[in-house]
Amino acid sequence: MLGLSGCSHVKTQKDTVIIPQPLSVEKGTGAFTFSPHTVISVPADEQKPVAELFASLFTRPAGFTPRVQTGQEGDICLQLDKNLSEDAYEMKITTKRILVKAADSKGFFYALQNLRLLLPPAIESSDAQTACDWSVPEMNIKDAPRFGYRGFMLDVSRYFLPKEELLRMIDCMAMLKLNRLHLHLTDDNGWRLEIKKYPRLTEIGAWKVDRQHLPFPDRRNPQKGEPATVGGFYTQEDMKEIIAYAADRQIEIIPEIDIPAHSNAALASYPEYACPVVKDFIGVIPGLGGKNAEIIFCGGNEKTYRFLQDILDEVIALFPSRYIHLGGDEATKTNWKKCPLCQARIRKEHLKDEEALQGYFMGRMSDYVRSKGKEVMGWDELTNSKLPEDVIVFGWQGFGNAALKAAEQGHRFVMTPARVAYLIRYQGPQWFEPLTYFGNNTLKDLFDYEPVQEGWKPEYEQLLMGVQASMWTEFCNKPEDVFYLVFPRLAALAEIAWVPKNQKDWDLFLKGLDNYTAHLEQKHVTYARSMFNIQHRITPDNNGALTLSLECERPDVKIHYTLDGSEPTANSPGYEKELKLTGNTTVKAATFAGNEQKGKTLVLPVEWNKATAKPLANAAQGMEILVNGLRGSLKQTDFEWYTGEISKPIVVTVDLLQTETIQSCTAGCITNYGMAVHKPRSMTVELSDDNIHFKEAGKLTFTDDEIFKEGNFIEDLKVDVAPAQARYVRFTFETPGNCPANHVRPGQASRIYLDELIIH
Ligand code: ACM
Ligand code: ZN
Repeated sequence: MLGLSGCSHVKTQKDTVIIPQPLSVEKGTGAFTFSPHTVISVPADEQKPVAELFASLFTRPAGFTPRVQTGQEGDICLQLDKNLSEDAYEMKITTKRILVKAADSKGFFYALQNLRLLLPPAIESSDAQTACDWSVPEMNIKDAPRFGYRGFMLDVSRYFLPKEELLRMIDCMAMLKLNRLHLHLTDDNGWRLEIKKYPRLTEIGAWKVDRQHLPFPDRRNPQKGEPATVGGFYTQEDMKEIIAYAADRQIEIIPEIDIPAHSNAALASYPEYACPVVKDFIGVIPGLGGKNAEIIFCGGNEKTYRFLQDILDEVIALFPSRYIHLGGDEATKTNWKKCPLCQARIRKEHLKDEEALQGYFMGRMSDYVRSKGKEVMGWDELTNSKLPEDVIVFGWQGFGNAALKAAEQGHRFVMTPARVAYLIRYQGPQWFEPLTYFGNNTLKDLFDYEPVQEGWKPEYEQLLMGVQASMWTEFCNKPEDVFYLVFPRLAALAEIAWVPKNQKDWDLFLKGLDNYTAHLEQKHVTYARSMFNIQHRITPDNNGALTLSLECERPDVKIHYTLDGSEPTANSPGYEKELKLTGNTTVKAATFAGNEQKGKTLVLPVEWNKATAKPLANAAQGMEILVNGLRGSLKQTDFEWYTGEISKPIVVTVDLLQTETIQSCTAGCITNYGMAVHKPRSMTVELSDDNIHFKEAGKLTFTDDEIFKEGNFIEDLKVDVAPAQARYVRFTFETPGNCPANHVRPGQASRIYLDELIIH
């Protein structure tokens, strides 16, 4: 089955689009065909591995392996051209021969990845394929990337990705011409690299208690003695294999040892390197950790520095990368403030405060790494104190602009902004997505990202090394969960890393993407199809009607819909423009290409009550969602929920436009325990005829036990009103206050989210 689908592309292979899009492509009309007689020639033995790796793709699916030899005689001839820049290449595919020029193996590798993408996707299959035409279309390509740093960060701490799966991930990266894999090897949730001098780092630090049935933020800390069964680690031998596999694919693995925070796994193994004021049990954290996440390496204890230097000695010896990433993010200084050793260090080194102590700590570790001949990288919090010498800063918070503070001081930097390039965020309409964090970073959002912002000084652009997509794995429990969030968005990152600013083309990219995902399918790699799903928006017109708009980020599909509850097909009405809704309606919609349904079916049960589509008096921005006739999903960030300013009550008045008889007033509210989303302390309903004089009609109040319940659920808070006549209904929701001490977010301000006001 899969073999057939891999070869069914054969007819259209002529139109195959390469991503990332090369600088220039001139297409011919013929094709070059690979056969058992095909010979690849390389200039010298040094280039043989690149050619052999490509040739080996054919072995299983095609049943032959092109021969690789040195010289100039090959059907595919690789030639050195030292005038070409690093990563650049030129290739000419004719019916008889393929000529590739590059300055080194990198350029050759990228050219051969083009051939890989131009071949039928079945080239990725591990099964023998019959009736496949192993041809690539005639074309001339000249190409070079925009950025030298084309990165992907993978967090293997929160979820340990087994070695075989990591190798698969690396091969999928290679097809996209990405060249840096930043491995986040250590965090509160697991230490993933064997360190021979400190075996407990993996004997203890690689294992956490099993809370996998709960979403990450809901998971409670381990009890002392509780069995820790979930995790794993890479031995140094594993890591050598991973490094070599990546190097064969022109990918440099940059190890991150995150200090001084995100270190509970290390400190669970060696608690003596935490501040001595810490008396709590330190375990490997299965979730957020609450107050335990504030336990970090002691910055005052001289032995901490020696411990970390020993670890870095092994890391430096193991990884050939020129870079070592030292983290430096999100270090809460609660314990440093109380710790006599940290305070003594601050005095001795004449440091201003704990933030300056972090500067000292990072500076010292950075100097050590530099003394061993490596360059140092770190997160953008490093700009909060004195920057370590020559450190390369990763802009991540918000849109990553803190990195510009480093650029201002002449430091190189990489952009991986959370608001665009964090793959943990939702990649499409949220009601179709598995649970994760925060808002949306869609494929298109990432594709549209331009790292060089208006107003930048020209020197900033010189210091920008490139861009990175970062994949945090808090919500991953199996390899497919990781692949689902990474693909296809990693292809959009590759596109912005490779293609010049004004040459990106969304339509063309999607064509190339469909070919790339066809290759992923042959490799049995999971990827998301969220780009085919529909984002809806229902807005009240304040006059009794609702306006429905539907949108899909792919322009090459058509939305068809029904309003009678039947399943949409390609023959259902096509969506052209906004629709007006005036009564109970079940909207169903899906995207189609021809007769084929591409995305999931969107189902919107729109239900009317007296508040629906009515104006809100003194509405705050976004409140109109409360009267749009549609309930939210279990994700409070799905754009169907309203939240006010944190710690402020929500007050909203519905104008029914005429005096109505009112029996009950209901508000939909959501609990998402791990995210500190809880129901209000109280809900008050008041009625008025003139929007000036209000009379209380009912009130609900809740205790702490009722408010701070665990779980993720929606509740309707209903106030029964002795039948009354009124035109205006005012709802007031008091905030629940801070989460109690036994909460997973102790002391944090909780938030109320409401989806709908329902008046009967
Ligand atoms: C980070 O997201 N804490 C770098
Ligand atoms: Zn300390």
